[in-house]
Amino acid sequence: MSAQNTLVLPYGGDAVAEAARLIRAGEPVAVPTETVYGLAADATSPAAIAQIYAAKGRPPFNPLIVHVALDDAERYGRFDTAGRALAGAFWPGPLTLVVPLREAGGLAAAVTAGLATVALRCPAHPAMQSLLAVAGRPLAAPSANASGGISPTRAEHVLASLGGRIPLILDAGPTARGIESTIVAVDERGARLLRPGPITLAELEAATSANVSQPFAAGDGRIEAPGQLRSHYAPAKPLRLDAGSADPDEWLIGFGPVTGDDNLSPSGNLDEAAAGLFEALHRADAQARPRIAVAPIPPDGIGLAINDRLRRAAAPREG
Ligand code: TXA
Ligand code: MG
Repeated sequence: MSAQNTLVLPYGGDAVAEAARLIRAGEPVAVPTETVYGLAADATSPAAIAQIYAAKGRPPFNPLIVHVALDDAERYGRFDTAGRALAGAFWPGPLTLVVPLREAGGLAAAVTAGLATVALRCPAHPAMQSLLAVAGRPLAAPSANASGGISPTRAEHVLASLGGRIPLILDAGPTARGIESTIVAVDERGARLLRPGPITLAELEAATSANVSQPFAAGDGRIEAPGQLRSHYAPAKPLRLDAGSADPDEWLIGFGPVTGDDNLSPSGNLDEAAAGLFEALHRADAQARPRIAVAPIPPDGIGLAINDRLRRAAAPREG
């Protein structure tokens, strides 16, 4: 791919109009959501989807999340009672539902990597919502980082990772949640948590009045979300978990009473820790010290998602 000029525009009506023009021309555009910045393209266009995979260097067997306006979701996927209950409780918001694909919806086959299911999400962020409305089509959007890197929570992160490879970044400042959406598969086998995220297991179970199983936690290497390669959120440096203090060559990311060089939340607030997690990893990567250590994070609520991302960041890189 030849280098191109990457424009960064502050979010607003003109920026959305320009983004929608590029989307309709088959180009990918980086857009904030409430979780992380996404790299959006027309989900009905095979050529546009190919641009996402090329810009990210993403393996083609890893399917994409399709972002939709609230009323459009059932055009692309089949929802049973549990699926409707989850969509009703958490959309618009940081929840992705993997449901049986409706072929007649017209999504490009590369979006689902040929699977019989589709991952759908109705996002809450006004930038992504207005882009969906103005572009008038479903938008496939993975996180807007080069494949294998840390998800971007600011326009600056996108520029550092994909600058020169995409035409436009809409800048609406840091994202509110800071961690990717919760992914749940719903079908006749029930609801299964594929990726923990901002919507917690307890919230999912309350909305469905049923058990939500956690195949992602099995730890036996089986993956239902094909993209859940163990090392998927890697900083460039080695990372040590559950550190009570730092070795001399380590940059310590603290939490609560473990002070550290940086601290995810001095008061021990897990939502605050999630919102700042990737930013802290980006900062740690930029330090002179060659290693990163992270304080223990309790695995409660969104702490489950924080620990999931940290385990992946600490895993040796695959390929
Ligand atoms: O918060 C988010 O979810 C962000 C924002 C931009 O929406 N997006 C995001 O996308 O994190 P991405 O591509 O980085 O992660 C999507 C995950 C991948 O692990 C992929 O394998 C999984 O969703 N996925 C997509 N379609 C699937 C399907 N049909 N079945 C199982 N997993 C699927
Ligand atoms: Mg990603």
